[in-house]
Amino acid sequence: MRLVFLGPPGAGKGTHAKILSERYQIPHISTGDILRSKIKDGSEIGKKAKQFMESGGLVPDEVVIDMVTERLQEPDTKKGFLLDGFPRTLNQAKAFDLALSQLEMKLDSVLYFKASLETLLMRLTGRRVCSQCGATYHVKNLPPKKEGFCDFCENTEIIQRKDDNEDTIKNRLDVYDKDTAPLINFYKSLDVLSDMNADLDVEELDIDLEKVLAPIVNGGSE
Ligand code: AP5
Repeated sequence: MRLVFLGPPGAGKGTHAKILSERYQIPHISTGDILRSKIKDGSEIGKKAKQFMESGGLVPDEVVIDMVTERLQEPDTKKGFLLDGFPRTLNQAKAFDLALSQLEMKLDSVLYFKASLETLLMRLTGRRVCSQCGATYHVKNLPPKKEGFCDFCENTEIIQRKDDNEDTIKNRLDVYDKDTAPLINFYKSLDVLSDMNADLDVEELDIDLEKVLAPIVNGGSE
């Protein structure tokens, strides 16, 4: 099963990608997570990406395209993959299309997480992440068992992502509207797009995702 999760910041792509990746045992490839780990490691890519990410802008296409093209060639993608946060520009979508055809892979579906501005702001401002393992929480919707600490990493605090402050969120939403939203029509025209109501809570949206994915799961991926 080869899937792309498309949608604005805070729509729940990462949360649902983790659930489905575990359920179907396919890798969850999040360009945001890969870039954050490269910043943590102090790698060259991380150094290039840092300023763009902290301001809420996009990391240059060539950096991200190379990164994803390399990742798609790793053996675990043979079973399928779930791409979260890529492609994010028309250039990236076209390069992705080319990479897929060179790897003789076919995209099964693009799931578009559609959510209201109110939902996005509530989710982004309330999101907390573990500074060690990256597990995601929400102060209201998904609090940790012990307030302020990760459920999985002993005595590790959960923190707010640097780009989850009000000014950067505004910029990320503007960048999404300008550069990423055009992909909705691009994938509609390829007849692979499914609209998901991402205002729903995790359990309800999970049920809808299962329904949309059922024909792919039952039919298998070529
Ligand atoms: P990235 O990490 O991809 O961030 P994003 O797209 O802004 O998306 P988010 O992680 O903010 O939101 P999400 O939809 O995953 O929501 P989540 O599940 O966490 O990118 C960060 C930066 O990296 C970019 O700004 C850019 O600079 C760079 N970058 C990455 N990819 C790039 C690319 N391809 N090209 C160029 N640059 C790139 O959920 C949010 C909160 O809501 C959580 O607290 C969660 O618990 C809660 N929640 C989730 N779902 C639900 C639900 N259904 N009901 C209730 N609560 C929910």
